[in-house]
Amino acid sequence: MKRALITGLTGQDGSYLAKFLLDKGYKVYGMHRRTSMDIFERVGDIKNRIQIVDGDLTDTASLIRLLREINPDEIYNLASQSFVPASWTQPISTGNITGLGVLRILEVIRLINPKIKFYQASSSEMFGKAQDNPQTEKTPFHPSNPYAIAKVYGYWITKHYKEAYGIFACNGILFNHESPTRGKQFVTRKISHSVAKIKLGFQECFELGNLNAKRDWGFAGDYAEAMWLMLQQDKPDDYIIATGETHSVREFVEEAFNVVDMPIMWEGEGMNEVGKYNGKIVIKVNPKFYRPVEVDCLLGNPEKAKRELGWEPKTKFKEIARMMVNYDIKRLGEKGLQAVDR
Ligand code: NAP
Ligand code: GDD
Repeated sequence: MKRALITGLTGQDGSYLAKFLLDKGYKVYGMHRRTSMDIFERVGDIKNRIQIVDGDLTDTASLIRLLREINPDEIYNLASQSFVPASWTQPISTGNITGLGVLRILEVIRLINPKIKFYQASSSEMFGKAQDNPQTEKTPFHPSNPYAIAKVYGYWITKHYKEAYGIFACNGILFNHESPTRGKQFVTRKISHSVAKIKLGFQECFELGNLNAKRDWGFAGDYAEAMWLMLQQDKPDDYIIATGETHSVREFVEEAFNVVDMPIMWEGEGMNEVGKYNGKIVIKVNPKFYRPVEVDCLLGNPEKAKRELGWEPKTKFKEIARMMVNYDIKRLGEKGLQAVDR
């Protein structure tokens, strides 16, 4: 039985990857940092099938202990401070977790067992003010926030440990991927949750920032397989994982309201733009959600992953919106606003 250690178990991707690896017959260890609340909602259904272990990417001693105790065959480093706006308000801890955290694990691998295979959750945010369209594995990075800059460090230190010490280390350069369990701060889930609240009469209107930003949105469930495939190849390499389609925030809003048969009409411009349903305002723009530097458009070319890994995205944009809105409607209907709106 192969052993895999996942950092970031409690996050969106951690839960999808843990389920995927369990299905493949792995013994799965999920790293969790101590919190004051129970945060195992995303892995509630598989909690008794995985080994939950304590550790923190800022605490090298905890990583040494874990690698000694578990001696995993594969490590998937999914943990990070992953919300871009928080990287401006907490730039130092973001650098420490999202950047230096990668080095800490790699160094512990080098010292304890350099045969462990390592996956690094790199990000399309590294392209930032993108130099090519679509972006490929050869596109230069131009990161535009402290999170993306920390990810660039994580990317290069992963490559360096491969080149300098022969560690089997791969970067998955994943474009945005969403799901019903996406954090509510991220724009797609903020939209699906707000649309559900409006449809069920809990709320009249919600606010967004830049409606024109474009992202290559895929489904998190499809992307877990790509992470695993990278570590099953003969040689370590880096791969873009994306859908090859890009859509604006505005389009996601329209699609989400279409799911509940509430077609949206836009009126006005810039900060004064509003979205209306049946003459009533349901979306406003609030500059509070604008970013000091925006990443205007991300679009990935997943050809290399298709060719070499045999990986392809399965879930289309409209299906992702439908899945997320329907989940939020069901959850709100069953649990009520107070239970879910935390
Ligand atoms: P997420 O939902 O924000 O999950 C992040 C995970 O990291 C959580 O489990 C969190 O624990 C954990 N974490 C944060 N700081 C930690 C620390 N100091 N020590 C240990 N664990 C820590 O992120 P995600 O969407 O699943 O993304 C997974 C990874 O892929 C992240 O590295 C992200 O940057 C990267 N990525 C994501 C996307 C995307 O579109 N989702 C695209 C490209 C790359 P708590 O629950 O305790 O906070
Ligand atoms: N969060 C948020 N909230 N974003 C908004 C809002 C809003 O109210 N209004 C507009 N947006 C725009 C943002 O300005 C951004 O251009 C876009 O929606 C997507 O924002 P997020 O969903 O917060 O994701 P992200 O693209 O910044 O980052 C995500 O994807 C990266 C991969 O490209 C995160 O998952 C990162 O961790 C990941 O690396």
